[in-house]
Amino acid sequence: MTTKNFWQRLIHPGEASEADREDCFWKVDLHSHLLPNIDDGVATLDETLICLKQLADWGIKKVITTPHVSRDWYPNSAALILEKLATVRDLIAENQLPLTIDAAAEYMLDDFFMDMLREGELIPFGERRFLLFETGWSQAPMNLSDMVFRIQTHGYTPVLAHPERYKYYHTDRAALQHLRDIGCLFQLNWMSLSGRYGSHVEKQARFLLQQRWVDFIGSDMHRPGDLDTMARLFKSGDMKLLEEQTLLNETLLG
Ligand SMILES: [Fe+2]
Repeated sequence: MTTKNFWQRLIHPGEASEADREDCFWKVDLHSHLLPNIDDGVATLDETLICLKQLADWGIKKVITTPHVSRDWYPNSAALILEKLATVRDLIAENQLPLTIDAAAEYMLDDFFMDMLREGELIPFGERRFLLFETGWSQAPMNLSDMVFRIQTHGYTPVLAHPERYKYYHTDRAALQHLRDIGCLFQLNWMSLSGRYGSHVEKQARFLLQQRWVDFIGSDMHRPGDLDTMARLFKSGDMKLLEEQTLLNETLLG
């Protein structure tokens, strides 16, 4: 039971059922790979349906799904992403699911991204034109401050996907502080708190929460097999830490 629900039960002991739900109070899931056959996420619409049904059951009202976009692996155009999105919207309507879906992207900061930034072909989300981006796994990008600045000067708000997963920041938290200082927002992965990526990532995820550095929580789910791992979060003490963040997820509901 979350802290919020605990107090609700004390104050309104008769209103148990709704307050007792272990659900996604943040209401909007930002970051997932639920457009079939476009990246390393779900392969079929059946898989998409399983994932969306569970998210709806957990209280998610809106999904902003974010396929990978990168020159080397997934050179997905905005047009292709929006075409796939239309198919999933039809799926939601056919099955009368109680949620909506939008699409953005998880951009790798490569030269493909820079071309699209110049040409205005990126898909932002939210009123502040948020852009979700990731960086390489092997070493810290040399020019990240410059990239963040360029994103901002083109009228977008940069959001770094799963900062807790980059090993090179595990021993360089000052670099994360610097990113915050220059206006880069952070999106934490839900499954980082459930041990999916190992104990170091879990520890870093908790550090980000303790610093109140988490602007968005996102599932980053790729397939139905992720759901069991995700369910562990509701039973953990991290729900309390999440409630203490100033999460922006719900501002994306409109
Ligand atoms: Fe992702």
